[in-house]
This record gives sequence, structure tokens and C-alpha cells, in this order.
Amino acid sequence: MDTLIRGGTIHTRNGPEPYDVAITGERISTVAPGGSVVPGRRTRVIEAHGLDLLPGVIDVHVHLALPFCGTVSCDDFDSGSSAALAGGVTTLLDFAIPSQGQTLTQAHETWLAKATTSRVDFSWHLALTRQEHLREIHAMAHRGLPTFKAFMIYEEEGWAADDAMLFEALEAVALARGMLLVHAESPRVLRLLIERAHTPDRMRREGARLHTLTRPNFVEAEAIERVIRWSQSTGGRLYIVHMSTAEGADLVRAAQARGVPVLAETCAQYLVLDDRVFHTPDGHLFACCPQVKKPADIERLWKGLGADNLSATDREPEICIVSTDTCSFTREQKGMWWVGDERTGYGDWTRIPMGLPGLETLLPILYTHGVASGRLSMARLVELLCMNPARFMGLGAHKGSIYPGFDADMVLIDPAAERTVDWRQMHSRCDWSPYQGMRLRGFPQTVLRRGEFVVEEGRVVAPPGSGRWQPRHLG
Ligand code: URP
Ligand code: ZN
Ligand code: ZN
Repeated sequence: MDTLIRGGTIHTRNGPEPYDVAITGERISTVAPGGSVVPGRRTRVIEAHGLDLLPGVIDVHVHLALPFCGTVSCDDFDSGSSAALAGGVTTLLDFAIPSQGQTLTQAHETWLAKATTSRVDFSWHLALTRQEHLREIHAMAHRGLPTFKAFMIYEEEGWAADDAMLFEALEAVALARGMLLVHAESPRVLRLLIERAHTPDRMRREGARLHTLTRPNFVEAEAIERVIRWSQSTGGRLYIVHMSTAEGADLVRAAQARGVPVLAETCAQYLVLDDRVFHTPDGHLFACCPQVKKPADIERLWKGLGADNLSATDREPEICIVSTDTCSFTREQKGMWWVGDERTGYGDWTRIPMGLPGLETLLPILYTHGVASGRLSMARLVELLCMNPARFMGLGAHKGSIYPGFDADMVLIDPAAERTVDWRQMHSRCDWSPYQGMRLRGFPQTVLRRGEFVVEEGRVVAPPGSGRWQPRHLG
């Protein structure tokens, strides 16, 4: 036994209990009632009485060093994985998006080269941006990459899949025992709404608010509704990424009740931010797709996570995972929306690089706004951030739980410790934070990744390159 974590509180549906967790090499070797395991002479012992002990968080939706919106997202695998560890994320799933003409195999190789500096374990979903990519689905699923992404929007990036391609992609994932992740926003109507609002006069008057005004809830809901129909008729497993609307949650719930194989994630930003952020001078910084919505959507999404039903055992709530959709851009990058000179200029919201930083704050946001505020049990938090990401993304045989034989990915949290979010003290290269000034609990004190101490007393100590690619297989 190399390490013994003694007496940490593990939260299951049966309630919180103190446990001793022994680690040998990269794996958990024993999980036993607190105080029952005797360490060896060379064992490093961590006294964890009174601390919460969680499996390492798995963020299944991340974009590091992504060429997008005329720039490249500012966090790469080096800074992004530091931010991840500081927030208790020990595994992340990025998106390998083929650049023009690339095959899925080539995109995978490009992302392998990018990830050499990662401090966390990693994998990615493969984006289907051309019809030819469908022919590779079967082979890639067998290589340990069983999840694929289709974008309904981003035609200007060359990423958009049309309806026919989405339908065929669902047929192909059904055959390959894979899953299709879909960015669901209705492209044609959205384009019309954007074109109508895209006048210098309106841009001068309304600025970045046009981003929200051109993305009413039905843009997401209608897209989710259609793709659910295609999943139902093809049997292709469907996963709605970054769901942001109450209507979306209602549709997913109804489809699940009919037996459609659809899962849904939401992201931390849709649970704590609403579109009033666009009424501040820095509003444009918050532009992301889909956009943060209204307080009523926030309430419905919490409910969809199981927030009204702390001890639910009868049904799985409709949203099974919370991720971040991390896609960080600095103030300077976000400033690309400015057109013209200081006197006559104005902001063109369609030029803002879309996305937010989030890896370091995912766990603290759910811990504070979910658990500490009484909306979620700790056991449900562990399901949403650890167990379900592992289970639904093909890592469930060795990650996401504190169980003998599993990877020793673990997080220790002092439940009483609180911090005020300040981007200056964070690990992202982003020079702002959407959560600046929020008081949050749940920042990890200690993090282990495959048995190695990677955060000690809140400091990231893992060297770049110590993360490992994780082949995945869906059941
Ligand atoms: O605004 C976002 N979400 N940027 C990243 C790309 C995407 O749509 O996931
Ligand atoms: Zn997306
Ligand atoms: Zn994304």
C-alpha cells in the first residue's frame, strides 16, 4: 500500500460515511470503514477526517486550443489541465474537430499531438463535419473513440451537418454501438434572426444584447425536438450537449419516457448565469452558444438534474451530466467584435469568439449552488460529475467511482472552506472569469490522479505531460 486516505467522508445514496481508502500504484486497493485499515511502514497517510472524499471529476465537454471564430481558444492542454486539476477535474474529454480536408483519423492524430502537455487523463469526441466521416465511425469506435459530435450550426467554420447527415450519423452510431452528441440550435431560423438584427443601427443601440435577442428558446427547443425524432426512428443513441432551455428539458424528459435513447447534459453556466449579464458593460465577454437564458430556465434545469427529488431512486432525472463547455478567450480575443474607430465604431456580436472558461469552477459551482444551497445531495453531485460521465462516456469500468480496482482519481474537499473567485488566482490564461467575485465552496484541497498527488494544499504540482489518453468503449 503506497497511500492511505484515512477517514474521509464518502457520500453514497445511503448517506455519508467515513472510509479508509488504500492505494497501491495507480489503483485503489481497499475501501473499508474508517479506522479499520492499518498502514504499512512506508505508507503515506493522509488524515481526511471531516473532509469530503469524491472520485476525480470528469468534464466531458472541453475545447482546448481550438481554432474557432478567427482565433484559437486561449487555454491549451497545459494551462487547461492545470485549471482542471485546481478544480478537481482529473479526466477531460475534448472534441477533435477535423480541419478542412482532414479525416477523423487525422483529427485524432492532431489532437494527440496537442495533448502531450496534459496533466489530466484525456480523450475526445470526434466531430463529423463531412459526409465522408460517417464511413470512419465504425473503425474509430473500435479504436476506443465511440462518441461523435455533430453541429447543427457553425456553417461558417465548415463544421455544420445538415439534417440528412445527422440522420445518417445516428444510423451509423446505432450500428457501431456508439453515441452521437449534438449541438442543437436550429440553423436556418437562427440565420434569419441574425441577418434581420445585423444592421449598424441596431448594433449601435443594442450591442451584445443582440446575441441573446437573436437566440430565443425555440431555436434550441425546435432543434432538440427534431433530432429526438431521428434518434427514435434510427435507434441511434443521442446525447444533447450544453442544453440551456426549460423547453429542451421537457422534450428530453418526454422522449425518455417514450423509450427514446436520448441523454442530456447541461453546463455550470446555464445553472448560475442568466442573460442579464448582457446588460453590463462587459456583456460581450459572456457570449457563448447556446446563450445563457432566463431565471425560469435555470430553475427548470436544476429540476432536471434531480434537484426537487433529493432521494430519488424511482427514476433517473432527465439531465445526467454537468460539464463546462470550456472554450476560453481573453478580453483581447473577445474584443474582436469591435468594428470601426472609437468615434464611429460599434460592436458586431457575430464576431465575438464564442465560449467561456469553466474547468476550475465546475465542482465549486455545483458544490455551492447545488449541495450547500440544499438543491442536490452530495451523492447526486458525485453521479452528475463523476459516475455518470464515466458510465455514459465509456470509462465506467475504471473511473468515476471509489471502488477497489478503479483508478485512484480522488478529490478531498474541506466543506467549511470558502473562496472568492478571482481570475488572477486561477490557472486559466483567461484574464477574466464569468464568476468573478462569487463566493464558492468546494475547491479541492488535495487531488490524486492515478495514485499520484497532483494538487497539494490547493497547489497544482503535476508536471505537464503526466496525463494519459484513455480509450473508451460504450456498453
Ligand atoms: O460557445 C461555445 N459553446 N463555444 C464552443 C463551441 C461549442 O458550440 O460547443
Ligand atoms: Zn456546441
Ligand atoms: Zn462545446
